Amino acid sequence: MKHLLSIEDLSLKDSLELLSLANEMRKTNLKEVKRLPALSGRLLANLFFEDSTRTRISFEIAAKRLSADVVNFSAKGSSISKGESLKDTVLTLEAMGVEAFIVRHSSSGAARIIADASWSIASVINAGDGTHEHPTQALLDSLTIRNALKGFSSTEDLQGVRVLIVGDILHSRVARSNALLLRKLGATVAFCGPSTLLPVFATLTADEIYSDLDAALEIGFDIVMMLRIQQERMNSGFTPNQVEYSERFGLTQARFERLGKQTLIMHPGPMNRGLEIASTVADSSQSLITEQVTNGVAIRMAVLYRLLAQEGTGK
Ligand code: CP
Repeated sequence: MKHLLSIEDLSLKDSLELLSLANEMRKTNLKEVKRLPALSGRLLANLFFEDSTRTRISFEIAAKRLSADVVNFSAKGSSISKGESLKDTVLTLEAMGVEAFIVRHSSSGAARIIADASWSIASVINAGDGTHEHPTQALLDSLTIRNALKGFSSTEDLQGVRVLIVGDILHSRVARSNALLLRKLGATVAFCGPSTLLPVFATLTADEIYSDLDAALEIGFDIVMMLRIQQERMNSGFTPNQVEYSERFGLTQARFERLGKQTLIMHPGPMNRGLEIASTVADSSQSLITEQVTNGVAIRMAVLYRLLAQEGTGK
């Protein structure tokens, strides 16, 4: 495994091994000295053409915890504004010794263009490409679900677990990667959202589809994962207005109170508090949102270790 571009590229065995390795990395993160020598002397670049807080910073922390050197490239403030291309940006950074790129881009497929290119020999990790995939988010979400529901066992999959993903499914790379990985691990995945924000072929990606949140919640799920309304990708009137969206599809305090105490709440972030999720729900004891962020560092350590320490480089 040289690149991580898509959950579709991971076998069940790969996925379980990464989850297990991430739990080992969690143990390192609890030690006084949170550093392993695995990537000492290696140079990685965060190549971010789109904004990020969690993904970029957790990859940087993960790289540093594995003793790698890491540089942060952000399109804003770079020579992209002078017309420099993706290819020339990559060639420039590789000429300075970068061996692996962690790529976030607003265009679906951008990470794969670098991975497949004859002009690059670097490893590539997809850190979110357009509306396509966000594989490390799905891995950290499955790790969070497995640890919360099944304990810290290293071999268990998610057979029998029911997950409801709510909101803007159409534009969500998180929903897509999560559905692929959760179903690979044996979970049942349901999507719920306005019909305008459900993909035409949603039934190929999820086991159950709902456009009435109250009806879906009534059926019962172990996990309710709320998605952000992606204003930046909304180029036509997908929802009448934010108030109506929140009334129909928001996880309000009233809806939350109708859930069982055992139902756990997730959100990949960043959140629009008061729109897709009430602040009180996000901060409740049933929320796994900060645990998701903590697990993001462990998963990204596991991915970097697997790609760069275990597999080495070379196309
Ligand atoms: N969940 C996620 O990808 O968050 P960021 O956009 O802050 O990286």
